[in-house]
Amino acid sequence: TLQIVKSIAELRQLLDRNGRNSKTVGFVPTMGFLHEGHLSLVKHAKEQNDIVVMSIFVNPAQFGPGEDFVSYPRDIENDTLKAADAGVDILFLPTAEDMYPFEGGIKIIPGPQANELCGVKRPGHFDGVLKVVLKLFNIVDPDRSYFGMKDAQQLAIIETFVRDFNLRTTIVRVPIVREEDGLAKSSRNVNLTEIERCNAPIIYKALAQGAYHYDQKKEKEEIERLVAEIITSNSSGAIDYVSLLSYPGLTQDIKHSEEVILACAVKFSTTRLIDNIIMSTK
Ligand code: PAJ
Repeated sequence: TLQIVKSIAELRQLLDRNGRNSKTVGFVPTMGFLHEGHLSLVKHAKEQNDIVVMSIFVNPAQFGPGEDFVSYPRDIENDTLKAADAGVDILFLPTAEDMYPFEGGIKIIPGPQANELCGVKRPGHFDGVLKVVLKLFNIVDPDRSYFGMKDAQQLAIIETFVRDFNLRTTIVRVPIVREEDGLAKSSRNVNLTEIERCNAPIIYKALAQGAYHYDQKKEKEEIERLVAEIITSNSSGAIDYVSLLSYPGLTQDIKHSEEVILACAVKFSTTRLIDNIIMSTK
């Protein structure tokens, strides 16, 4: 049965060496408004660990001024039912006061991976992600931590963070879960208007076209241009970026890595959607 924990101290006690009794802990950090993408992380975590901990915390530190921190969708009651149903053992719901008891403090600044893609329009976003992720890792002390490929840049930066600072957890990559029409599941999809929701699947269709052109050995710039054009000519979406980069390094040099990423961010009125396809260079 699902145990709900609201304070850092209580979670620490529950998961200390005696509490966990040499059981393995799998951790799924989220901002809630759960959908099948999140639940897929839980499924993977359950298969590989004795105890599954999920956190739900809309982290103010990763939202910039003018971003959607206030309007970010929240539904803790429904999330609790879904988490219980998916087999989460411990649901951690920290308060902002407990997580950020004072202003200022230490900043964590990621390297060049954070300057590409979403980092261009969201300066400081990944600083905020790394800060909350480090805090959560230190509180939960998970053996394995589960992240979705939907946020491929976040995942790449967190993998680098874990390696660079010898964090004790192992990062597990989980594939993107999509709607039947191809749209990547996202908590933000509920903020789309009916028409925008109808048009949004063009994002994945365009990326798939881009992947085809990549297979056909088209040039990077040509692929990026084609994908952007498919999206803008078939929807009201405004392109934030379409970018083909190495993965997980996120450099412009796409010839010397095993994988590349074709990623985009598209804005439908106030809703910004991201999606990507990872491809082998072989
Ligand atoms: P959130 O957007 O709630 O996502 C939580 C996790 O679910 C992330 O690892 C994300 O990649 C994964 N996820 C979201 N949609 C997915 C989909 N369609 N398929 C597969 N996985 C999906 O990402 C965050 O929260 C925050 O930045 C967080 C890491 C919790 C730090 O605050």
